[in-house]
Amino acid sequence: MQTRVSTAPTPGSATDDRRIKARIAGVGSALPARIMSNDDLAEFVDTSDEWIFSRTGIKQRHIAQDGECSSDLAERAARAALDNAGMTVDDIDLIVVATATPDNTFPATAVSVQHRLGMTHGAAFDVAAVCSGFVYALTVTNAMIGQGMAKRALVIGAETFSRILDWEDRTTCVLFGDGAGAVVLDSSVGVGEGQAGIIATSLRSDGSHKDKLFVDGGPSSTQTVGHLRMRGQDVFRFAISATVDVVEDVLAKGGITADDLDWFVPHQANKRIIDASAKKLGIAPEKVILTVQDHGNTSAASIPLALASPSFTARVRPGDLVLIEALGGGFTWGAALIRW
Ligand code: UT7
Repeated sequence: MQTRVSTAPTPGSATDDRRIKARIAGVGSALPARIMSNDDLAEFVDTSDEWIFSRTGIKQRHIAQDGECSSDLAERAARAALDNAGMTVDDIDLIVVATATPDNTFPATAVSVQHRLGMTHGAAFDVAAVCSGFVYALTVTNAMIGQGMAKRALVIGAETFSRILDWEDRTTCVLFGDGAGAVVLDSSVGVGEGQAGIIATSLRSDGSHKDKLFVDGGPSSTQTVGHLRMRGQDVFRFAISATVDVVEDVLAKGGITADDLDWFVPHQANKRIIDASAKKLGIAPEKVILTVQDHGNTSAASIPLALASPSFTARVRPGDLVLIEALGGGFTWGAALIRW
């Protein structure tokens, strides 16, 4: 008699790649106190509220005060996320900050946050993937937790894009804002259908597009900080068409369709991009979380800011399926499917 040897892993076992590794245990955010409306902008830039709102959906953005750095915003968001999770910094053993506007060339903004939180244990580092930075940071952290390299982590998106804007260039300076958002990732116990956690992630990049959205300075090239430059229409077109692949990938890995999603929390760059993406993916408008009107494009901070916004926290329920997705300079893009 032949014994059948099963090669399929026991669901939820250590060898099961489908095992959920980390869940979001808390969310938090921080915004600079100073708000700049479209009308405020129109006082010194040749633009109008009508143009900005009709093209982008943006009504206002927050702008950091002099001396207010990405690490200040990141620290505040981190503390709020720890409070929300009912944890202290002693519970955390990893900090990952996604930012394209670090306080300094080095050290990483994450170690400044670690120091400000009074944490001398564990590890901290930055991830640079611009507007997809949070999806990248979440993916890397989830993988590290899955490998047993960390137990509980702060994943933070923090930006002060106002510092790299050319305020003479109306095609870009009206689009961006400052802010930070953070989540606490906790290694999950228990497995099975319906368990809270990160179900699937998918990352992509294609450096052949790097000249479409970039900063024209840097320590190794010009020894200056530089300013953001963008070919807006190229980014617009790519953002709608290309991100479908990562979304389809995470839906397939999760064994669901777009119909099963409860919430879509995309990178908040432009309401027209978000609307067109949701339509293309077949996601109903009432499932789309929108914060771009209040924050503008805050790059890596936009998704965690949205996850911590009342428009999401007041409506999401345990067990809901949440899709996050972003595209940024590089181009880089990615998506994650999360059960709340
Ligand atoms: O996180 C990823 C990063 N970025 C993005 O996702 C942004 C992607 N791109 C976009 O969102 C859009 O392309 C923009 C909002 C940047 C621009 O919208 P558009 O509909 O593509 O406008 P356009 O660039 O074709 O410009 C139309 C007109 C131009 O005037 P003419 O040449 O038609 O006379 C521009 O000079 O609008 C003019 N314009 C402005 N007018 C008033 C450009 N910027 C402004 C402005 N205010 N701020």
